[in-house]
Amino acid sequence: MRKKIIAGNWKMNMTPTEAVNLVNTLKPLVNNEDVDVVFCVPAIDIIPAMEAAKGTNIHIGAENMYFEESGAYTGEISPKMLEDAGVKYVVIGHSERREYFAETDETVNKKVLKALEHGITPIICCGESLTQREQGITIDWIRQQIKIAFLNVTADQAKTTVIAYEPIWAIGTGKTATTEQAEEVCAAIRACIGEIYDEATADAIRIQYGGSVNAGNAAELFAQPDIDGGLVGGASLKPDFGKIVCYNK
Ligand code: 13P
Repeated sequence: MRKKIIAGNWKMNMTPTEAVNLVNTLKPLVNNEDVDVVFCVPAIDIIPAMEAAKGTNIHIGAENMYFEESGAYTGEISPKMLEDAGVKYVVIGHSERREYFAETDETVNKKVLKALEHGITPIICCGESLTQREQGITIDWIRQQIKIAFLNVTADQAKTTVIAYEPIWAIGTGKTATTEQAEEVCAAIRACIGEIYDEATADAIRIQYGGSVNAGNAAELFAQPDIDGGLVGGASLKPDFGKIVCYNK
């Protein structure tokens, strides 16, 4: 049985002071031992959020990372820095990073390999645009994203990773994919991992759904056989996140 993993993606929200307050507000609400709980926060919030989350079940993750160890890359944050801070999860290749910061499947692959090298679990994002869905090429597109993201990743490494399926048209729009749409793509991702590696790897890898997840739709989404949790944007900034994490209570 795969343990569910429910992660908040705070995006570019919360000052360090606000971050501490939010962790303090949410910590009594996200206590669910059936679930791995992760708050992926802006780089400047990582240390104070970790302090605030000490002694709780909350893991603090990063939202991005560069693929070099150190050097002349002004403004970037390295895997070494995250590792030293005790970060165990990092979101890689979110569609917003692909759209606004020119990330590609190739840079995603480099980042995935680097994170794994540093013992950090990548939460690898994939997802189609509305046009791609309407053209019926969703599955082909996602398979391509997955195949490139996992280049040179071993089966043992792949087993430890997390994939987040986030249809771009469902992000921040209030337009959740139907349970059937979400399950169909998550099942296709698992099948693709099975083709690249083997059944054991496909069975072990955790696949999240993301895109307008809220307290009202979480339980149904997370009950699907191939959906192992969620990557939550807007609702992760509110007490509602507690209801999402405790979807099975
Ligand atoms: P929303 O939950 O706000 O739609 O965002 C989803 C997302 O992009 C999480 O990474």
